[in-house]
Amino acid sequence: GKGNWKGFDERDLLLTYNALKVLEARYLLKDPNTLRYIETPQMMFRRVAKHLANVERQYGRSESEVKQLEEKFYKIMSELKFLPNTPTLMNSGTRLGILSACFVIPVRDSMITPNGEGIYDALRAMAVVHQQGGGTGFDFSELRPKGDIVASTAGVASGPVSFMRIFDVSTDVVKQGGKRRGANMGVMHVWHPDIEEFIKSKTGQLKDTQLQNFNISVGVYDYFMQAVERGDVVPLINPRKTKIADWDYYMSKARGYMNEEWIQEVILSELEEKGGTVDLAESKIITIDEALVIAEKENAITQWVNARNLFDEIVKGAWDSGDPGLLFIDTINRRHPVWYLGKINATNPCGEEPLLPWESCNLGSINLEKFVVDGKIDWDGLAETIRYAVRLLDNVIDANRYPLKQIEEATKKTRKVGLGVMGLARMLIKLGIPYDSVDAVYLSYQLAKFIYYHAFKESIEIAKEKGSFPAYDAKLYKDIWESAKDFYEILEIMGIKDKPSDYVKKLTSIVDKLDFDKLKEDRIKYGLRNATVVSVAPTGTISIIAGTSSSIEPLFALAFIRNVAVGKFMEIDPLFLDYLRKYELDNPEVVKKIAETGMIGDNPFMPKSMRKVFRTAHEVSPEYHLLHQAAWQQWNDSGTSKTINLRSEEPPETVERVYMLAWKLGIKGVTVYRDKSKSQQVIYFGIKK
Ligand code: CDP
Repeated sequence: GKGNWKGFDERDLLLTYNALKVLEARYLLKDPNTLRYIETPQMMFRRVAKHLANVERQYGRSESEVKQLEEKFYKIMSELKFLPNTPTLMNSGTRLGILSACFVIPVRDSMITPNGEGIYDALRAMAVVHQQGGGTGFDFSELRPKGDIVASTAGVASGPVSFMRIFDVSTDVVKQGGKRRGANMGVMHVWHPDIEEFIKSKTGQLKDTQLQNFNISVGVYDYFMQAVERGDVVPLINPRKTKIADWDYYMSKARGYMNEEWIQEVILSELEEKGGTVDLAESKIITIDEALVIAEKENAITQWVNARNLFDEIVKGAWDSGDPGLLFIDTINRRHPVWYLGKINATNPCGEEPLLPWESCNLGSINLEKFVVDGKIDWDGLAETIRYAVRLLDNVIDANRYPLKQIEEATKKTRKVGLGVMGLARMLIKLGIPYDSVDAVYLSYQLAKFIYYHAFKESIEIAKEKGSFPAYDAKLYKDIWESAKDFYEILEIMGIKDKPSDYVKKLTSIVDKLDFDKLKEDRIKYGLRNATVVSVAPTGTISIIAGTSSSIEPLFALAFIRNVAVGKFMEIDPLFLDYLRKYELDNPEVVKKIAETGMIGDNPFMPKSMRKVFRTAHEVSPEYHLLHQAAWQQWNDSGTSKTINLRSEEPPETVERVYMLAWKLGIKGVTVYRDKSKSQQVIYFGIKK
């Protein structure tokens, strides 16, 4: 019984079989000599809580205050209401010091540079981050194109894609903390002369062989998307040949999201430091055309290509293999609260963290399913959990041991944290709302707004005690809610006429009372602890530990086969099983039959009410996938990771429509995955293949 065994706690019984399997395989600490476990799941939560509460000592908190906070941290984790990202769970209080999941590392056009930003410097930084369990993103656009000259050796350059292959091989060799495979994001901006090779680097014959440790994304701009719509041509620019240090910098500036003050203070001084580009000292805001004139004079334009054709190549690749995705660089920078620190060119591997060079971010996610109580949402409980979660995430920044000083500096300058969610699909089922309904999207929108409000508020509270993030500038900081699209605007872009029901409006009416003007006043008065506070991560593993659906995704399948290292397992969604029991349909024959397709939407033998709410990823139309992503992105100062799942038979035109709509909806990045488009996929539908 309870209390007889040291470390036994009934809360362990909250953990599902799969959660225990994942925990024992990768998270629970073992004695390195005997390989015996030296902790239980509860001891793991305790280890994390203690380590992160201890940080408060640095801020002069008393012993009892630290202990109290430890209890709160422990409680939200052990009740599976909130979990920090994997590196925090694995590494807190151990020899490995990285507790964050997301990193962006710069890659300059040089083998090595004195300040450690060359290609091989980046490779080294990547290895160190992977070794401890972090994921890395890179923008390779500054590298000179294939076939370009290399002065020092009078040779020819091999181009960004061939360098990416080295990063890929290194990732294979260095396993993350010995516990998971490294993940990377490779970005190339659409103006680079090697863009076509990049787009095709993971499709066709190469899709199951090349760059397997990379997600790749094309960095696109508003000017490019507009050119696609109009069928215009766009220039390809050799980054080595242009005096404009970061060519697209000026392309973006021309579209007006950077103000003059910033151009004067930041860009020009930065350029001076780099010994750079005087043409711009005179022109305050240059237009795209002016930028082009300069590039032309410099002979930096290698070619003009039809934007439509380039877009078609991107779409074909994504349809064929899921890669490349798109990053909307203008949207990202327009809505970056600390835009005055520079331009963001890349994200972490799954896209939820657009970061400046060398920045890192730690994540954590709230389990929404836990906040459905008697058919209602426990808003007070949710707000309380958000408060402690933000405090915990802020402490991670201080508890982190950074592997490189550039990472430490950049991270501590902005103190970005990313509070996200998991279990949305299950919350919806418990509330009886189908995922692909206007009500569900409305709920997403309202939840995102509520979470953002309370996370931001807590960040102000922490600033009162501990000070703002060092790069905070009360005047320049941009409140992202001022550019959030209205819910009905989102519906309109999508061409949806239905309106949310009174039921869901009443369910979420508390959100309509939130006072964002007051929040802004408080921010200006007291400061802000974190440059960003939220981020919607995929929660690939922590959602298994929490025993809930991942992130904001619909259920993948009601029953399916999961391919894992140790073999194939048939899995039944436990919530689905509960419902089957309720209708006395939980017999093996029924389950086996359902597992053949993984869904029940068109199964006439299933109760109608179940068919309505148990919607799976491939039954949900791409439009509704996008709508949820758009809803969450409006109230999010970082990114929203989401896979737009497509049925195997969807044509390339669907991908084209999805990519265009994503841009119009104000999403920061988009990825599609068409069922069966790769030979290796982690999850298959059904038992028949
Ligand atoms: O659930 P968990 O905390 O393990 O991670 P996630 O939410 O699925 O992924 C969050 C981030 O962790 C990703 O965007 C990557 O930056 C990083 N990650 C990684 O580096 N390697 C992996 N195998 C999985 C995730």
